[in-house]
This record gives sequence, structure tokens and C-alpha cells, in this order.
Amino acid sequence: MATKVLIATDKPFASVAVKGIRDIVEAQGYELVLLEKYTSPAELIAAVADVDAVIIRSDLATKEVIDAAKKLKVIVRAGAGYDNIDLQACTGKGVVAMNTPGQNANAVAELAFGLMVYAARDFYSGKSGTELKGKKLGIHALGNIGLNVARIARGFDMEIYAYAPTKSAEYIRAAGAIPVESVEKLYEMCDYVSIHIPATAQTKKSINYDVLKRMPKGGVVVNTARKEVMDEAGLLKMMAERPDFKYLSDIAPDNAADFEPFKGRYFFTPKKMGAQTEEANVNAGLAAARQIVAFLEHGDDTFKVNK
Ligand code: 3PG
Repeated sequence: MATKVLIATDKPFASVAVKGIRDIVEAQGYELVLLEKYTSPAELIAAVADVDAVIIRSDLATKEVIDAAKKLKVIVRAGAGYDNIDLQACTGKGVVAMNTPGQNANAVAELAFGLMVYAARDFYSGKSGTELKGKKLGIHALGNIGLNVARIARGFDMEIYAYAPTKSAEYIRAAGAIPVESVEKLYEMCDYVSIHIPATAQTKKSINYDVLKRMPKGGVVVNTARKEVMDEAGLLKMMAERPDFKYLSDIAPDNAADFEPFKGRYFFTPKKMGAQTEEANVNAGLAAARQIVAFLEHGDDTFKVNK
């Protein structure tokens, strides 16, 4: 029986990416199975039953899904954040979990700037706005996305600061940013903060009122990371206390209706859109397919994220 690779995407890849993945998979003599826009976890559970490899996006690879995948050897999250995969369940079953770091970083960084310009121009309301040039931008973490944000910020002629505790001062300076020693200081100093931390046990709800309240007058926070890193209650308190503050996020917080009193100062994308470009889909999707082939054919687990 041919090796089967499943693409399971609730939010489908652009068709050009699906074609590229199909070409790679079929050139290897594997079979491609496609499950798009599914509406229940049961459909995913049924689809994984007899496949050897899976490519997902933000789709939830729960323990139930991993346990149902009797032949599964490798699951690749075509993207950066793998907080949607139960890594322990994968390890328990000897399944290798991978991501495709960097492949959609430019797409996310461009969206961050789209949101910043939108905020600066008062949500295209027709009122007079401001410019990004000369403003202080704080980049909260400097991985692949943060680096792309820094690159674009240089073009906008912004003053760039970064809080990146795992990176050296040389690395931060090479990105054109000035290292800042604490999260608090970053928010205190910067007119705009762009968030690029992963959602982990340590970072969830870590951006709270105590951090936000430090922002200068007219401060803008752009969150193209995960909604979970923001402490929603603290954010709402900040919105209520500071009529000068704006928050823009790639996907809505859990209780989006609570933000309605602050209309004109917040924006949430209807669906997670950071990586939703043809280019990012091709980059991440094809990388995922190549990583699956390299793993199944040669045991190459370079991008493995579980222990
Ligand atoms: C990522 O972690 O790579 C981004 O959040 C993209 O998510 P998506 O593939 O669901 O668009």
C-alpha cells in the first residue's frame, strides 16, 4: 500500500500550494489525501486513521487525533507555532512532530505593518492620522518574524527596540534594533509594540495590565502572535482607562463583544490571517512536504519539536 500523506486544513492552503505539495508527494510515489474546511474534530479523527504523515496548520492535533492515527509517523505543522499539537501524545506514540520555522515569517511581519498603518491612520476613518516614520517600535521577541518586522521597520525609518532575552546584544543590534532589558521597559519606551512571542505555559497571559499601562500616550499594541499571550481582563482595563490606547490583533480575543464600548480603538481580523498569503502557503506547505519526504526516506528530523 502506498504511503499516505494527509493535508488536513480547516483553513485551506491557496490552491497553488496544494498543487506544489501534491507534486512533491506524488513524485515520491506517495498518495495525497485532502481534508479541507472540515467542520468537526470527528472528520479529522476519521481522516487520520490510515495515513503515514499529516500536514496541518492551526488545526488541533489533540491526543484523540494522534491516538486515532494508527500508522502515523510524522506530523508537520506548516507554520511556526505548534501550540496546537499535543506533543506528549506524539512522543508517547513515537510520532515525530515538526514545524516549518521562518517559512511564513514575512507574511506575518507584513500584516503587522498593515495593522500599524491602519492604527496610525485612525482606521481609515477620514480623520487626520500620524506617520510611523520616527516613531519608536518595540519588537517583543526577535525570532524569524521579529527579524522581518525589524527589516520592514528600517524601511519605515522607525526607531527600533527589541526585548529578546534569549538573543545576544550583537544579534539584536545586527537586526538594526536597540536591546531593551525588560518587557516593562519595552512597553514603557515604545509608541508601537509588535508581539512575536510563542504561546507557552510561561508566556500565556504574560502581557497584562501592569505591562500595558506603561505605554506612552497614543500607544499601539499589535498582536500577530497568539491571543493567549494577552491577559484579556488586563487589556480591557487598559482600554477602559486609556482612551488614547489602541489594540489590533490577528484574530479576536475570547470575549470580543466586551470590546464594543471601545469602538474605533481596536481591530480584530475575522480569521487568523498572518500566514494567509499564497507565498506563505507555498513556502510553509512545500517545506512541510519536503520535510515529510526527508524524514520518511532518510530519517531526517531536523525540525522535530517534540522530545
Ligand atoms: C503560525 O504559527 O505559523 C501562524 O500562526 C499561522 O497559522 P495558520 O497556518 O493557521 O495561518
